Amino acid sequence: MNIGHGSVGLAIGADELETDLAGDGPILVFDLRLADEYSRGHVKGSVHAVCDTQAKETIMPKIPKGVKIILIDTDGSHSAQTAQMMSAYGLDAHYLRGGMTGWNGPVIEGGPQAVVEPEALLEAMGSGKDMVVVDVRQPDEFEEFSIPGSINIPLPDLFKKENIVRIQGKGRVFTVCTHGNRSMVGAFALARSGIDALSLAGGLVGWGQVLQSHVVTREGPVIIQVEKTGKGCLSYIVGSEGQAVVIDPVYPVEKYLEFASREGLEIKKVLDTHHHADHVSAARDLASVSGARLHMSRYEGYDFESEVLVDGATILVGRSEITALHTPGHTAGSLSFVLDGRFVFTGDVLFVDDVGRPDLRSSAGKFAAELYASLHQKILAMPDETVVLPAHHGSRAKPAGGVFLTTIGDARMLDMLGMDQEKFVQTVVSSTVPKPMNYEKIIRINKSREEVPVCEVPDLEVGPNRCSTSAA
Ligand SMILES: [Fe+2]
Repeated sequence: MNIGHGSVGLAIGADELETDLAGDGPILVFDLRLADEYSRGHVKGSVHAVCDTQAKETIMPKIPKGVKIILIDTDGSHSAQTAQMMSAYGLDAHYLRGGMTGWNGPVIEGGPQAVVEPEALLEAMGSGKDMVVVDVRQPDEFEEFSIPGSINIPLPDLFKKENIVRIQGKGRVFTVCTHGNRSMVGAFALARSGIDALSLAGGLVGWGQVLQSHVVTREGPVIIQVEKTGKGCLSYIVGSEGQAVVIDPVYPVEKYLEFASREGLEIKKVLDTHHHADHVSAARDLASVSGARLHMSRYEGYDFESEVLVDGATILVGRSEITALHTPGHTAGSLSFVLDGRFVFTGDVLFVDDVGRPDLRSSAGKFAAELYASLHQKILAMPDETVVLPAHHGSRAKPAGGVFLTTIGDARMLDMLGMDQEKFVQTVVSSTVPKPMNYEKIIRINKSREEVPVCEVPDLEVGPNRCSTSAA
């Protein structure tokens, strides 16, 4: 094969590769052969890489400048062309002259590096086994939001030996970033140090879309709490006599069908507590795919058709009854839903360890006063033993058996609920919690003023929920 003049200076011999591998310099060694050839024997510290269009568009731009790249294939032909292309892109790319046929050094066996799906990472986190999640984004991105317990080593620093000791011997290593590209390069970098890291597929954007279900109760009505892990959004499936109502569903909607059918329930009605600003409501889509009826607050001014709920309206689900309670303050039309007088779904009005923040838009003072009235006159008017099930949790809230809940009795002890109205309003108005990312667009989508393909929802929703006053 004619490899052209441009690649000639990019060739390195086996001796130079050995020297590079033994040195401390930042290098990445990519093996471009077929996966099974790689598995049968490859240079230690090399990673299997597929050089397709996707890799060119996603992985290549994430390789830090100053990192020496060495490509290996069977005979040095394809790798020469690829090195030339990467070099033209501005990378310090080289290839092993003669490929693996020109390599007489030791080889090791083993399959290509794998990615980890978000669900599997979640399982690993809950397994109690030693592990470390390395977030390879920049510190400002990490500060914005991160997977709880993860450590931050920005990608360029993963090539420095002094950072490797921070993760050596800590068990399984997982690398994460926003979309899963930098973390893949990070896993490649770690392979050189003998660390077999798994990169989180789809990154934090994919992580943000994982839904987990936990049973709140099966005595009387069945209540399943569905947590959107990466965002802290909580939604609910309430079932009785084979029928189910879903409250505040999020994407992906298919999970509600799965969770409901696992309990032998058919989704008959879908409700939202309020006009959400931090995530895209899946209420309309879930109603449409399940054939359920959609019920939304009369007081929010949605631009789409639904059966409207007013204060005091009731919805039957099997032998249980849900009563809507108008509890404005977070938004003007926020509803809380009381189930059989024993449970209250408070939306973003009251959380486990905090109260909601007033509407994310203007008139904070007026909304704060309404929130105070809703909390004291309606929510806290319920008996102490009433179980409170909110629509979000902050990072400080600790679940009991996987479930985030509190009771009215415990909620009375919250600092915010011990304040008089003046102090409450003053505290809420002076709270300077930043707004959720993309909230204006999300508000328009949820009001039905803007359409968005479902595949764009994960990117829109990346980041924390920031719904409570302190937004822990
Ligand atoms: Fe909200």
